[in-house]
Amino acid sequence: MCAAELSDTAALERFKQQYTGRKGAIAALFEAFRQLPGPDKAPLGKPLNELKQLAEARYAEAQQQLQAHAPVQGQPEDLGLPASPYRTGARHPIYDTERRIIDVFARIGYTVEAGPEIEDDWHNFSALNFEPNHPARDMQDTFFLQRNPDWLLRTHTSSVQVRVMERQQPPIRILAPGRVYRNETISARAHCYFNQVEGLVVDKNVSLADLKQTLGYFVKSMFGPNQRIRLRASYFPFTEISAEMDVSCLICGGEGCAVCKHTGWVEIMGCGMVDPQVLENCKIDPDVYSGFAFGMGVERIAQLLYRVPDLRLYSQNDIRFLHQFARIQ
Ligand code: PHE
Repeated sequence: MCAAELSDTAALERFKQQYTGRKGAIAALFEAFRQLPGPDKAPLGKPLNELKQLAEARYAEAQQQLQAHAPVQGQPEDLGLPASPYRTGARHPIYDTERRIIDVFARIGYTVEAGPEIEDDWHNFSALNFEPNHPARDMQDTFFLQRNPDWLLRTHTSSVQVRVMERQQPPIRILAPGRVYRNETISARAHCYFNQVEGLVVDKNVSLADLKQTLGYFVKSMFGPNQRIRLRASYFPFTEISAEMDVSCLICGGEGCAVCKHTGWVEIMGCGMVDPQVLENCKIDPDVYSGFAFGMGVERIAQLLYRVPDLRLYSQNDIRFLHQFARIQ
């Protein structure tokens, strides 16, 4: 039995009885030794003493260890000791940003709609005026399903807007948040999937001024009252007129820095007035109704809020990255 096994007082007591005690095995050996004739004693004296010392040393060592770990009797616990630390969970920054975007629009009457991530050509492209040869339809940009190339992974949540218009007559005022897929090479600035929040308003007398007001309200609510916006003419097949919206750079306040490439502006979404042909494709009368739409990437908004330099961090789920958001929220 070695000292490591003498882990409680009962074992220690047993050890004493068996080996080192007055009636133990070692005492018996000494008794036998004493009765040996003189010449036989000579070679046995030394090892016998060594055995005794070894056993007593083991006993003493084990006794000391047991005493060191024994609870101190009669003393109160130290209530000033810090508790053992524990970690609370954190919402994923993309989910959190999506919630914040939805909250801002919910305050002005938008409701949330969802649609499938596997879409058909009509809802993702044709109903939205993408001509048959539009480059977005190319395999280079879109993931088609191998078993049925009529199906694809949606490239934007504008497909949800089509689904809503098909089943509901105006007034329409919805947000379509969700994951979208594009065949991009993964880098710090692009990923093969990301999240969007798109918005759609269709009603009587909806104008470009309404769109601009709405987006100005969104930017000030999201990034602070001093942020400015600007619209730049652009092109999307499903809007006429079309624009990109820039926000004054949040990092440098418009002075010019690496994030805004020294322009003072950062692009955050596409937008425009819904093309009358798209309304008609969805059986809404363009002579009676008009609408606007907008769409933004959630990762881009989160990047500006949290200053995350590399898009890939959002999908790697490194606990050290994610845990930093526990304190921010
Ligand atoms: N669907 C566009 C995109 O994914 C964004 C957009 C939405 C543009 C609505 C204009 C109007 O890039």
